[in-house]
Order: sequence, then C-alpha cells, then structure tokens
Amino acid sequence: MNKTEQLYEGKAKKVFATENPEYVIVSYKDDATALDGLKRGTILGKGAINNRMSNYLMKLLERSGVPTHFVEELNDRETVVRKVQIVPLEVIIRNISAGSFAKRYGVEEGIVFAEPTIEFSYKNDDLHDPLINSYHALALGLATKEEIETIKSMAFRVNEVLKEYFSTLGVKLVDFKLEFGRTADGKIVLADEISPDTCRFWDAKTNEKLDKDRFRRDMGGVEDAYREMMHRVFGE
Ligand code: TMP
Ligand code: ASP
Repeated sequence: MNKTEQLYEGKAKKVFATENPEYVIVSYKDDATALDGLKRGTILGKGAINNRMSNYLMKLLERSGVPTHFVEELNDRETVVRKVQIVPLEVIIRNISAGSFAKRYGVEEGIVFAEPTIEFSYKNDDLHDPLINSYHALALGLATKEEIETIKSMAFRVNEVLKEYFSTLGVKLVDFKLEFGRTADGKIVLADEISPDTCRFWDAKTNEKLDKDRFRRDMGGVEDAYREMMHRVFGE
C-alpha cells in the first residue's frame, strides 16, 4: 500500500491517504507536546516505539474481542489503519490516582481505586479539551446514546485486557486515554494509539515513571523510559 496525499498533520502523527478509500497510513513522529501544546520537544525514537507498541496492543485487543482500526504495520513508523471518523471525545480510564485527577480533587497520586473510573474530554483545541459528561456529549451531538454505551463498555474491556497484560511485564497501568472512530458502515472501533504518550506506566516495584510524564514534568530520562517500555514489551 502506498501513501498518496497528506490528509492531516497532528502533534505526534501524520495521516496520508492511500489508493484504497477505506484505508489511511499513519506515520508516527518523534515530536512531543504537552501542556496544551505550550511545551514542545523531541523524544528520539518515540515514533517507532509508539507505532510498534500501539500495533502490538491493538492486535492483543482484537484477539480479546475489541474491534480496532489496525490493519497492517508497514515499517517502524508507518501503519495502515482503517479510515474512520474520530468521535471527538478523549476517553480516560483510571486505575490509580494521578495527573489531573489528583490535582482536581486535591488527593495524592498513587491511590489504588476499588473500581476503575471513566471520564470524557471534548476534543476541541480552541476550548482546551474540557471535561464533559456523557449527557453533554449527547446534547452536543458528538455521539449517539448507543455509541456512548459501546464506547464505555469497550473502554472498560480495554482496561481489563491491558491491566492484566502490563502486570505480567511488571508494569502498573495507572491510567490511559483512548479515542474511538466510526467506520464507513457506522461501526465503533478503537482508533488513535496506545503508547507511553497516552498511558501512565509505573514500574510495579519502584513506581518509577515509564511514560510521557517524564517529558511533561521535566524529569529527564525520557528516552530511557520509552526504551524500557519497548524492552518490556518486545524484549529488545
Ligand atoms: P490527565 O491525568 O492529565 O488527565 O491524563 C490522563 C491520561 O490521559 C494520562 O495517561 C495521559 C493521557 N493523556 C493523553 O493521552 N493526552 C492528553 O492530551 C492528556 C491531557 C492526557
Ligand atoms: N494534549 C497535550 C498537549 O499536546 C499532550 C499531553 O499532555 O499528552 O498539549
């Protein structure tokens, strides 16, 4: 499959059309942003790591009954995925308090929840991706009632599968962000990526951060953290 024209360039990925109208090619960049795009930088090797890890996890999820956009990995940085219309919601699942949850509710990071939580943000850069509830999403016409129910149950299923998988690698899945898309025939599938950019990973023994928080928080050791996650997933 070959790239034709570029359709879109985001913060971390480019998307290209192909000869097949049902497929697009995603190309992962090493660029990183944080704090609503205010902080910019490069994480060397990130594009290849996120591409390969995301594809591996999407395949694992497919085998566990979660439909995804994944079609075929082309090379280190490029993957064919189904062309979808992205539902403009960031779906966040949390198992342990951290980040904006800890800040918003004035609690420490690291509290293990009895049950995972779910929240939605409205994907809208001009509004800075505000928190939104499912009734508001419905009122704004971002998704139908059925779609929201499907998204919720798929997101919790993704959590079960990934939490279990990462625990076998000695990694706590603290929280993560998912995006869903609609295929041409109106089916909801998991889209975007699952990577150290979009998940919080803590070492199970030391709680060392192995994800993009090292970049967001200027902690150093960013590339090493991505490489460590690559090593745990692929043994490389
Ligand atoms: P938060 O605690 O900052 O709300 O982040 C929750 C999770 O979502 C965390 O794993 C990082 C991820 N995330 C993204 O992937 N993209 C984003 O734009 C934000 C704000 C968070
Ligand atoms: N949405 C953030 C930004 O680009 C990215 C992040 O924190 O993961 O500003």
